Amino acid sequence: MSEAAAAVPTRLAVLVSGSGSNLQALIDRIAEDPEFGGEIVVVGSDRADAFGLERAEKAGIPTFSCAVGDFEDRGAWERALVEQLLEHRPDAIVLAGFMKLVTGEFLQHWPDAVVNTHPSLLPAFRGAHAVREALEYGVKVTGSTVHFVDEKVDHGPVIAQRAVEILDHDDEDALHERIKQVEHELFPECIRLLCQGRLHIEGRHVRIR
Ligand code: GRF
Repeated sequence: MSEAAAAVPTRLAVLVSGSGSNLQALIDRIAEDPEFGGEIVVVGSDRADAFGLERAEKAGIPTFSCAVGDFEDRGAWERALVEQLLEHRPDAIVLAGFMKLVTGEFLQHWPDAVVNTHPSLLPAFRGAHAVREALEYGVKVTGSTVHFVDEKVDHGPVIAQRAVEILDHDDEDALHERIKQVEHELFPECIRLLCQGRLHIEGRHVRIR
């Protein structure tokens, strides 16, 4: 996204699968920051019962759900997901706890404009069980990573990271909760920079201007 384009609000589509606390943090941040430079035009989910959809409805944001099980195969599901998103003409896609992988077919619609938040310090503990695996491994520090999405899992260029200390008696829920508190600040901040056209990808590096 160019800096010139930042004069009009960047149209964001958010995808969620669960509670949507990161979505809520983004909704709140946009509401309180007139300089944010972006607006959420739709929230979608692969699960009709995702609490994130309720949060969006409460905020007056259009929603849709698109369940893998309703389609013949993953390809058909992803094409339908893209179609639903395109109806809202988003400039960027925000994966906020979206637990499905997207392919290059999806990404080609929004080049360098799909971002994700992951609850570990990547490249450590990729995948769906990052918090549990960090605890099991016995690392002393884990954290939050916000990154651009590419075709590999939890792999694209890193926008920002913040560390979270692991405490002696942490369990998965307690640790994940502390990581989320960090995500709720870091993720909206990164999306603000994206909306303002201030993130520039150079190979694996993201420069913030
Ligand atoms: C977050 O910890 C995110 O990093 C991970 O899934 C969790 C989603 O939480 N990908 P929520 O639905 O935003 O509360």
